Amino acid sequence: DVSSMLSSRPEMFDFEGISMVHYFTDDWENVQNFQARPDDILIATYPKAGTTWVSYILDLLYFGNTAPERQTSIPIYLRVPFLEAVFPKIPTGVELVNNLSTTPRLIKTHLPVQLVPKSFWEQNCKVVYVARNAKDNAVSYFHFERMNIIQPNPGDWNNYLQKFMDGKMVFGPWYDHVCGYWEKKQTYSNLHYMFFEDMVENTAREVEHLCSFLGLTTPTEEREKITKNSHFDAMKQNKMTNYSTIPIMNFSISPFMRKGKVGDWKNHFTVAQNEQFDKHYKEKMKSPTLKFRTQI
Ligand code: A3P
Repeated sequence: DVSSMLSSRPEMFDFEGISMVHYFTDDWENVQNFQARPDDILIATYPKAGTTWVSYILDLLYFGNTAPERQTSIPIYLRVPFLEAVFPKIPTGVELVNNLSTTPRLIKTHLPVQLVPKSFWEQNCKVVYVARNAKDNAVSYFHFERMNIIQPNPGDWNNYLQKFMDGKMVFGPWYDHVCGYWEKKQTYSNLHYMFFEDMVENTAREVEHLCSFLGLTTPTEEREKITKNSHFDAMKQNKMTNYSTIPIMNFSISPFMRKGKVGDWKNHFTVAQNEQFDKHYKEKMKSPTLKFRTQI
C-alpha cells in the first residue's frame, strides 16, 4: 500500500539551481517539454500561498454550473492537476493534464518562474499567481511538512525558520519566487498577481478582479455564491477540497485546511526570531515595489 511505499521522508537535493525532492523532478523531461494550449490557465504559487483556494475559485467560475457532478465526485487536485508532481498510485501531473477533457484546462505549478515550461509563455497563456506574506507562508509550510510524508522532515520550528531564510526549501527560496513572478509581470501582461491577504480581507472583490482578468462576465449573484462556497469553513468541510481523500497527509498531526488566517505567525515567531527575520528580509527582497501585509 501507499504508506509502505512512503515509509521514509525524501531527501532534498540541488536541482536546476533550487532545492527539490524527487517527487517533483522524476518527470522533468515531460514537464519541460509540456505543450500548453493558448487557453490553458496556469495557477502558479509558492507552496502554501493559497493555491487550493484560488484553484477552487477558478474551477467554480468555469465549471460550477455546467458540470455539477464534477463538484461532488472529483477532488480538486485531480480537477486542477499539479503539473510537475509524480505521486505514487496516481498518473503523473503531465498525464493528468493531458487527460483533461474540459476547456480551459486549469493547471497548478509551484515552479519558480525561470523553470516554468516555455510553452506557457509562447502560447501567451493566462497565469494567475498568488503570493502570501513570508511569515505566514513559512508557518503554513512548516505545518504542512510536519503532516505530509512526501515533504522532507521539517525538524523543529527554529531550525525550519533558518532553512526558510536560507532558501533551502522545496521549490527554492520564497524571496526569489515571489520576486521572480513580480518581475515577469512587468513584461508579460497576461499575468495576474494576487495576494492571499487581499483574498482574506475581501474575497468578493478578488473574485471580481479575477473575472475581469479572465474576461468572464459571471453575474453578481453567481460570484457571491462562489465567494460563499470557497470560504475557509466551507472548503474545510468539503471532502473534494480539503484533501482528506489523499493518503500522503496525516491530519492528526495538522489538517490541510489548518487556520486560513493572516497573522498566525505571531503565534510562532519569538521576538528575537522576528527581529532577525525582518533584518534578513530587507537584505533579501530585490523588488522594492513588491509589498506584503503581515496583518490586515
Ligand atoms: P494555513 O496553513 O495558514 O491554514 P495551499 O493551497 O497553497 O497549499 O495553501 C494552503 C493554505 O491556504 C493553508 O493555510 C490553508 O488553510 C489556506 N486556505 C485554503 N483555503 C482557504 C480559504 N478558503 N480561506 C482561507 N485560507 C485558505
